[in-house]
Amino acid sequence: MEDKSKVQERESWGSSFGFIMAAAGSAVGLGNLWKFPYLAGKNGGAVFVVTYLLMVILIGFTMMLGEMIIGRKTQLDPYGAYKKLNKNWGFLGSIGIVTAFLILSYYSVVGGWVIKYIIATLMGGIGVDKAAYFNGFIGAPIEPLIYHGIFMILTVAIVFKGISGGIEKASKIMMPALFIMLIIVAIRSVTLKGASQGLAYYLKPDFSKFNGRVLVDALGQVFFSLSLGMGALITYGSYLKGDEDLEKNALIIPGLDTAVALLAGFAVLPAVFAFGFEPSQGPGLMFVTLPAVFEAMPFGAVFGVIFFILVFFAAITSAISLLEVSTAYCIDQLKWSRNKSVTIVSSIMFVIGIFASLSMGVLSDFNIPILNLGIFDALDFITSNVLMPIGGLLMAIFLGYVWGVDEAIKEVKKSPNVKFKLEKLWIVLIKYVAPVAIFIVLLSSLGFLDRWLGN
Ligand code: PFF
Repeated sequence: MEDKSKVQERESWGSSFGFIMAAAGSAVGLGNLWKFPYLAGKNGGAVFVVTYLLMVILIGFTMMLGEMIIGRKTQLDPYGAYKKLNKNWGFLGSIGIVTAFLILSYYSVVGGWVIKYIIATLMGGIGVDKAAYFNGFIGAPIEPLIYHGIFMILTVAIVFKGISGGIEKASKIMMPALFIMLIIVAIRSVTLKGASQGLAYYLKPDFSKFNGRVLVDALGQVFFSLSLGMGALITYGSYLKGDEDLEKNALIIPGLDTAVALLAGFAVLPAVFAFGFEPSQGPGLMFVTLPAVFEAMPFGAVFGVIFFILVFFAAITSAISLLEVSTAYCIDQLKWSRNKSVTIVSSIMFVIGIFASLSMGVLSDFNIPILNLGIFDALDFITSNVLMPIGGLLMAIFLGYVWGVDEAIKEVKKSPNVKFKLEKLWIVLIKYVAPVAIFIVLLSSLGFLDRWLGN
């Protein structure tokens, strides 16, 4: 097997399309298909969607371009990258590495649920009461852990082999396939009898439902869904060559990611209303409603299996990028071998994931102090709503004021063939708009902590 540290020439993507599909593979994942619909369902529907779209436009493009600039400029892992540009800023890369570590612990648990649903759909065994089936499964002490283990082992198997050829190739096939499948399922969902109420909920904003929670969840979701604020795109960007048009990529990737999230909302929310489920039920939404949609389709079992397989691929292309961030750090900074790094990192993640999974059942009465949340929810909240936005805020400050926008702009325009059309806009966004917006939302996040404390 190839040992990257001994390779002189740094690996790079085979093509621009390959990079876009791999970065989209990191971005498009459980965040789009599982989390976005349930966050929209929980936060008043369309008002959340509108807030999310605004945040993607203001912050998604700005941050994604920033990360790619840092990655391509330094050709290093996140810690090494920040340290190379300013020796006092390595800590920011470290925050990202811890974040990736925590996310994959519980992400893998949900990845396990997806594997279970592939098998259950294949066997036709979900039964009449979808919600009872889901809650019974995730609350069980052993079975979800087995699937969590399987998901982690599959992620490990890919990262063991290194990423470039495998990820790029798989992403180029899986991402377009996912898109097509999702369109089919969304069409079935919106044409169900009784779907119109769900469509109205999803598309007609009721601004009286807007509050701090909507803002906090929307911003957290932008970071989570676009894989921002923790160095995944610094890592992927570090495999880019100098002639790549970073600005174009930073527009296309969030565009694709958002399109998939919106489609997932069309697939799930109308069905929620058509079948009389509760839109604000939280993490079970996709697992409870989609099996019902499939049952209402001709050849539903076939669609169901294919769909959950694609959700699985979306999840695993994201999981790989999460594992690679921590792995790259161990290889580069601790000088461990790739195999040792992957084995140790994933084992610890697996153990944390066990507690996240058990918090759905036997440990459901245990709450993390201060946060007053169960283990699973606490991991999600700390990463999406606190660590990723802090990582993003500090990155904006770093780019805007420490390393400086002039250097960053030079990197975008490195090739004479590439123009930076939104240069002026990006300067304003990265220096003022993004940091201020993230800061306000972070404060609002802390306000929620107070409220929970008071409960
Ligand atoms: N963007 C992924 C999703 O939406 O499921 C999750 C994720 C992957 C977050 C990679 C962060 C990351 F670095």
